[in-house]
Amino acid sequence: MVSFLGIMDTTEIQRVKQQFGIIGSAPELMRAIDTAIQVARTDLTVLVTGESGVGKEFFPQIIHTNSARKHGKYIAVNCGAIPEGTIDSELFGHVKGAFTDAVSERRGYFSEADGGTIFLDEVGELPISTQARLLRVLENGEFMRVGSSKVEKTNVRIVCATNVNLPEAIKNGRFREDLYYRLSTVPINVPPLRKRGGDVLLLFKKFVMDFSARYNVPKIELDEAATEALLSYSWPGNIRQLKNVAEQISILELNRKVTGDTMLGYLPQQNMGNLPVPAAQQNGGKTFESEREILYSVLFDMRRDITELRRQVKELMGARAVAPHDAVQLYPHAQEVTIDPRTIHVSSPSTMHVSSPSTMHEVGEYIDEALSLDDVEKKTIKSALDRNHGRRRDAARELNISERTLYRKIKEYGIE
Ligand SMILES: Nc1ncnc2c1ncn2[C@@H]1O[C@H](COP(=O)(O)OP(=O)(O)OP(=O)(O)O)[C@@H](O)[C@H]1O
Ligand SMILES: [Mg+2]
Repeated sequence: MVSFLGIMDTTEIQRVKQQFGIIGSAPELMRAIDTAIQVARTDLTVLVTGESGVGKEFFPQIIHTNSARKHGKYIAVNCGAIPEGTIDSELFGHVKGAFTDAVSERRGYFSEADGGTIFLDEVGELPISTQARLLRVLENGEFMRVGSSKVEKTNVRIVCATNVNLPEAIKNGRFREDLYYRLSTVPINVPPLRKRGGDVLLLFKKFVMDFSARYNVPKIELDEAATEALLSYSWPGNIRQLKNVAEQISILELNRKVTGDTMLGYLPQQNMGNLPVPAAQQNGGKTFESEREILYSVLFDMRRDITELRRQVKELMGARAVAPHDAVQLYPHAQEVTIDPRTIHVSSPSTMHVSSPSTMHEVGEYIDEALSLDDVEKKTIKSALDRNHGRRRDAARELNISERTLYRKIKEYGIE
């Protein structure tokens, strides 16, 4: 394994941080960026490790854009999102007639990226048979298309990432040991957020500034206890989780100066089952894979509450349709389910915004959109796929969800 020691070039690191919008100056993060810059000039294979949500996806891009290959192609492949049956063909291509659906030949990513860089994300998810093919490309640049015995050559730089423990996967027989050593010529470990000290505050500040601009709402400020809560929390979901929290607070909190108690409500405590967890994070044990999913869930929980409230008001007032204004007087809790002084409009994820001022009339209209969360999600996914001419990667990027999630949802909703 190669390690890059010596004095860090902080000016270069600063430039890269600015280029990619990377926030923070924890020594371990700086070292990881420095290693990426140093190794970029070589063709060495890099393995980026780190927990989920730490920012691993910056690193292959830093490496590519700082390498001699920067004018070549950069192809990012989410190995976990491609079905096992087609992954070899996607990566290495196939010849006509290689399998039932192979009506014409196809070039794979390794051929497409000749002269450039391939980023194999979630590399731990590669099937064992594909691992053998990958090992061969790594060793001498050779590969064969599915269904062909002709050896082809490619000149590709490979950067991989994983949040799974590969040595553990090797022990369980799910990952080839020889491939692991070949991939991790240069290991880059991205530190978890809980080891980055004051970076938490810098990141939070940056995120609330971004959300304040995006949703046109006043910026969130923290009191001393809230600051302390952020600093002492363990952040199991790392920066992705911090970003989610900043977004939820920016949208939901009426009081823009957040207290420690309020903040704790957004930070699920592990091994402390008796502490309150915000409804948005419970959701029947469902795990959330993107900020948007959490936001949707919050919105639709709120809408369900409002609908129920309206039903009760109607019952009380007889068959007469009640002006939403009355609902507030009868049910003071109605105020809680509106985001006063703003209203949330949902049409599609890319147009979701918060605007001011709110009126109960607008909220009434909002209730009347009789779409379920599933309907909205399905419609949103369909239009993103249409807009991107069926390209899943681009659609996933636009929706800000992982390709794996998109693939799962396409199957779940039976989208063609
Ligand atoms: N230092 C940082 N500064 C600003 N934003 C960051 C930083 N690190 C991560 N992020 C943001 O956090 C989110 C999660 O990062 P990323 O997708 O790279 O995580 P990951 O390590 O690939 O996680 P996973 O293993 O789950 O795929 C992204 O929105 C990313 O832009
Ligand atoms: Mg990732």
